[in-house]
Amino acid sequence: MSKVVKYVAGTLIFGLFTEIVYQIYVRLNSKKEDKKCITEVLFFPDLKVACKAHFTSIEGCNNRHCRYTHSGNSLSRLYNYLTLSRKSLDVCVFVLSCADLADILILVHKRGVMVRIITDNEQVNVQGSQIWRLRSEGKFSCLFSGIIVRTDNSSFFMHHKFVVIDNEILINGSFNWTRQAITGNQENLVVMNDPEIVQQFQTEFENMWTEFDPRVTYMKTTEDT
Ligand SMILES: *[C@@H]1O[C@H](CO)[C@@H](O)[C@H](O)[C@H]1NC(C)=O
Ligand SMILES: *[C@@H]1O[C@H](CO)[C@@H](O)[C@H](O)[C@H]1NC(C)=O
Ligand SMILES: *[C@@H]1O[C@H](CO)[C@@H](O)[C@H](O)[C@H]1NC(C)=O
Ligand SMILES: [Zn+2]
Repeated sequence: MSKVVKYVAGTLIFGLFTEIVYQIYVRLNSKKEDKKCITEVLFFPDLKVACKAHFTSIEGCNNRHCRYTHSGNSLSRLYNYLTLSRKSLDVCVFVLSCADLADILILVHKRGVMVRIITDNEQVNVQGSQIWRLRSEGKFSCLFSGIIVRTDNSSFFMHHKFVVIDNEILINGSFNWTRQAITGNQENLVVMNDPEIVQQFQTEFENMWTEFDPRVTYMKTTEDT
């Protein structure tokens, strides 16, 4: 065999080999990417309230005398996670009186994310409750209804405090959606994306969503009488 043939064959084999190694590397890496595991704990209180504009809008904050903080903290992480949603945001909280967090829900609702909220009936009309605002302000055109909020009207508490984002990420903990919980109380939120746990929370949300459907409640009471 001539030297030239040997040289060409050698180059081809070497090229093929590097291509195979490269492809294996790409496959392995993309698998890792898919399964990227989220495990984070957010602790409250934060020293200061995170600036919503700074952390959630493209333009950022243009208030030169902004009284909120622009350094990352637990609330800014929570903002990040909530605004990550692309398809659905299922929120189950006992109290929802923090206007900043309600603003985030309205923001993602306006981006076309399906936002559903379950809360306790006794909390709907408490001072500062954002429920009525979410129902009406979320309604920004004739094509989009307001955010749907369903309430647990039983005499027991709907005591959960969790959020499921895109059926993929769970945020759960002691945290009520109140100002006091952000800068006063000792609270925790666990963020995770373990599919087995997320799925169980999602299923429970769906069950409650059906259970607290006002039409279902109405049918039940008419059946009873
Ligand atoms: C449940 O409670 C809320 C808040 O008190 C009230 O607005 C709503 O009409 C109640 N729904 C039913 C089906 O009783
Ligand atoms: C969710 O948060 C509640 C309240 O802190 C806690 O009791 C529960 O163990 C948490 N569940 C998970 C799966 O983290
Ligand atoms: C927060 O939730 C707890 C129940 O976990 C409730 O007892 C408490 O009153 C709530 N805090 C506020 C400020 O509403
Ligand atoms: Zn700011």
